Amino acid sequence: MNILAFESSCDETCAAVVRDGRTVLSDAILSQIESHARFGGVVPEIASRAHTEAITAVCDRALADAGLTLDGIDAIAVTAFPGLIGALLVGVNFAKSLAAARGLPLIPVNHIEGHIAAGYLAHPDLEPPFLAMVMSGGHSSIVEVRDYTDFKLIGATRDDAAGEAFDKAARVLGIPYPGGKEMDRLAALGDPDAVPFPPAVIRESRYDLSFSGLKTAVINYAHHCEQTGEALNREDLAASFTKAVCRGIESRLENVLEDYPEKTLVLGGGVAANSHIRETVTKLCERKGAALKLLPLSLCGDNGAMIGAQAYYNYKAGITAGPDLNADATSRFSFHA
Ligand code: KG4
Ligand code: ZN
Repeated sequence: MNILAFESSCDETCAAVVRDGRTVLSDAILSQIESHARFGGVVPEIASRAHTEAITAVCDRALADAGLTLDGIDAIAVTAFPGLIGALLVGVNFAKSLAAARGLPLIPVNHIEGHIAAGYLAHPDLEPPFLAMVMSGGHSSIVEVRDYTDFKLIGATRDDAAGEAFDKAARVLGIPYPGGKEMDRLAALGDPDAVPFPPAVIRESRYDLSFSGLKTAVINYAHHCEQTGEALNREDLAASFTKAVCRGIESRLENVLEDYPEKTLVLGGGVAANSHIRETVTKLCERKGAALKLLPLSLCGDNGAMIGAQAYYNYKAGITAGPDLNADATSRFSFHA
């Protein structure tokens, strides 16, 4: 079954063709980063307009790269939530129109479930049940994937998302949006013990994370340096911040691996590209005897292929939508809860 899938929840316009949930025939991505960078973050209005301009061409590219026309497509899939509402609506309306015009099934997909399903594309042997942690610009969630369409949210951030924290800390260092990747590079050059930042956790919970205290600590530290004329070592700050993030993630995942029976872990989302987090979680899984399924960097960030992967399993479970499909900005966690 060939699924043409769309993703437009944030600042990337994506379309992909995926066969039977596992094989990527094409994965076209148009990033809007340059349009947003000068504002220091994603501007929702600009994102919606850019998706509207790009989506037809991105769809054409996905079909061409797959060597197909719409005649070779069996279903249309789209991210319906969560995300920026105006941005989501562009993908949802485009997908609805295409499905209606071609008489094809329309499959709605939860963006977070899509990030998890990226694991099926990278690891042909991966099958539920397993554990997953999704860390992106908008989410930080630990999930028990009981079956392809059966999810239990175990823990999440109580405030900012991991990517948001990376981007805000980067901003303090004068790094343009999105700064996560540059923070990764700088952190490798600094001393992680230079500044003792608090770990990114909620003490009263075994599974929840919190990034806002850490973010404030980084901002306060930078202000302190500014006021006292102390030199701010960018590499040390990036390394110390990253260590606090890694310690938070490590402690929550350690608790989850102790408390839950599944011993396979998928790391997804843009922040799962971070080399220090990957190293920390790799060591943790070795210690705990768990199998870690990392994703190639191309499948960590937003893409259409991950939506096409989850869509296949949604379709098999009877999860389709009619012409009244709407987008939702919030994270009702799944269509099946
Ligand atoms: O999953 P994603 O592409 O989009 C959302 O769904 O939000 O994640 C984007 C986030 C941004 O905050 C970006 O700074 C962060 O992922 N990111 C990283 C790295 N690469 C991207 N954060 C830390 N280290 C990286 N190497
Ligand atoms: Zn995402």
